[in-house]
Amino acid sequence: MEKKKQNYLSLRESRKIIHYNIKQMKYYERLKKRKVNPSFYTTVMKDPNNILEIENLDTNFFTDNGTVKSVNGVSFSIPKGKVVGVVGESGCGKSVTSLSIMQLVQAPQGQIVGGTIRFNTDDLGMNENGEKLAYDIAKMPMKDMYNVRGKDITMIFQEPMTSLNPVFTIGYQLDEVMFIHYPQTTKEEAKKHSLEMLNQVGISMPERVYSSYPHELSGGMRQRVMIAMALAGNPKLIIADEPTTALDVTIQAQILELLKSIQKKTGCAIMLITHDLGVIAETADEVVVMYAGRVIEKGTVREIFHNPLHPYTIGLQKSKPLINTDTKEPLYSIPGQVPNPINMPNTCFFKDRCSRCINKCNGEYPKEVQVSDTHFVSCYLYDEKEGE
Ligand SMILES: Nc1ncnc2c1ncn2[C@@H]1O[C@H](COP(=O)(O)OP(=O)(O)OP(=O)(O)O)[C@@H](O)[C@H]1O
Ligand code: SF4
Ligand SMILES: [Mg+2]
Repeated sequence: MEKKKQNYLSLRESRKIIHYNIKQMKYYERLKKRKVNPSFYTTVMKDPNNILEIENLDTNFFTDNGTVKSVNGVSFSIPKGKVVGVVGESGCGKSVTSLSIMQLVQAPQGQIVGGTIRFNTDDLGMNENGEKLAYDIAKMPMKDMYNVRGKDITMIFQEPMTSLNPVFTIGYQLDEVMFIHYPQTTKEEAKKHSLEMLNQVGISMPERVYSSYPHELSGGMRQRVMIAMALAGNPKLIIADEPTTALDVTIQAQILELLKSIQKKTGCAIMLITHDLGVIAETADEVVVMYAGRVIEKGTVREIFHNPLHPYTIGLQKSKPLINTDTKEPLYSIPGQVPNPINMPNTCFFKDRCSRCINKCNGEYPKEVQVSDTHFVSCYLYDEKEGE
């Protein structure tokens, strides 16, 4: 009887969840559609050198089985002109975090329900106290978000074919970006700009690619086109969600090299999401490690690779294949599974998989501990007040 109660929802429970979901979804959808004064979503940057500051972000999915807290109190910043790598195993909330920044979470089930996403825009200037004004994307109505998305913040996805429209030429789709964000652009100006963008991403015959359809290009070329499209509006932040996972290793290296050179040339910041620690080590300046919807460790690339602290980050490093070793040991994998996202424990989410548990780990979720100016970790082992 007890087992049945744990694994199945009764009709009554199911109805209760559906009613709750409908109420929540209607509430958040209404919030996104209402007309508000821009002051409602204007805030100030904590540090004007950051392009983005995410603080306590909560994004939920209201599913028929209950509420999934896909992003659960996530906080991190992206400094201007830097590459911030976001890493963590499948389902830990990397994509939902990036989609929240773009306000592209699958609605109505997926909704940002709390927190702040401060975007350092040039549109607003300073307030009377000399503080840099910013948009709070978490509060921005959908209509106003159109001015930011695709222009100031752009996104590159894993599979370019899902983002490119198969029935229009590359040129048509590139020009469209200009017409949307700069409506006064003439056809000739748009074409000239699109060809320049194709040139910038290393496409040697831009005219030919301009008049091609997506299916006529290789995977690597399509990803270059996506990068050109992301660059067209002159963005301040590019979010790249697993941009090289669908490509073979040599093309992967070229695309990463291209992203790095674009970042240097244009000065934009990049949020790079990947499973691959090697990609992070090569490309990122700072690293954010996520686990089960939370940030469990963050720091500079040096800190995370030379001094990983959280047992999960250490496990991730250990499970990385190495080529310059002749060990016959099987590749390490972190034992156990992520807890059920609908019913997360009140303790550390990594507790059931952790080999370094101490008594204090039975307490509430560990607070973030600062171990250097730039290095933070959520684990009782490093909390002097709480540790043993
Ligand atoms: N449309 C959706 N409906 C319900 N739950 C969702 C939806 N999209 C994501 N989720 C849930 O949100 C959580 C985080 O998903 P997310 O896609 O952000 O993971 P991820 O870290 O990007 O994983 P991957 O590395 O596999 O891309 C997962 O538990 C997933 O089941
Ligand atoms: S808080 Fe405890 S259980 Fe969680 S990772 Fe640290 S040592 Fe392991
Ligand atoms: Mg993902």
